Amino acid sequence: MFGKFITLEGIDGAGKSTHLGWLQDWLRQRAIEHVITREPGGTPLGEKLRELLLHHDMHLETETLLMFAGRREHIAEVILPALQAGSWVVSDRFTDATFAYQGGGRGLGIERIEVLEHWVQSGLQPDLTLLFDVPLEVSRERLAKTRVLDRFEQEQQDFHQRVRNCYLERARRDPARIKVIDSTRPIEIIQQELATLLQELI
Ligand code: TMP
Repeated sequence: MFGKFITLEGIDGAGKSTHLGWLQDWLRQRAIEHVITREPGGTPLGEKLRELLLHHDMHLETETLLMFAGRREHIAEVILPALQAGSWVVSDRFTDATFAYQGGGRGLGIERIEVLEHWVQSGLQPDLTLLFDVPLEVSRERLAKTRVLDRFEQEQQDFHQRVRNCYLERARRDPARIKVIDSTRPIEIIQQELATLLQELI
């Protein structure tokens, strides 16, 4: 028996965290075993890497490799064991974020990321990716309320625009897996759409 693997994505300030709580309630109400986790992070080692990744300057290649180092640990220690036990796994970000942030935002391109993806994931892909999408102005407004901005949140507008474009391009190429959720709409409407998408997975 294999559980379902769901990932949440979007530019910083797209409202992912708000919907993660709702998603957890949805799973609880249906008594679906689940694990909520995140990247970077998700394991003790991954959380240490997260601290470095969010606050320590480094070369782009180092940043990309550390994202995948943490991911390997996350897959081996958390994601695969849970899925194999029949539990659902909901991860706040996964590899689409590396394509969008390192590949698009920072300009690494996709080839080397695809090599790492192949190596580290051995074919593991999310069953469903919810891409929360808002225009840059909306995300900027939301981020303005954040106290301490990390290395990614501190980046300029054009960086975030490239990240957003890259996410949307990936969704265009893989519409069966990546669902674009217009996050500018009222929260109840968004939740209705999420419920429909989740129901299809059961
Ligand atoms: P979070 O604030 O959504 O927890 O994500 C932390 C930051 O890490 C976010 O700005 C996006 C960034 N990130 C990458 O740049 N590459 C990745 O592969 C992942 C998983 C996150």
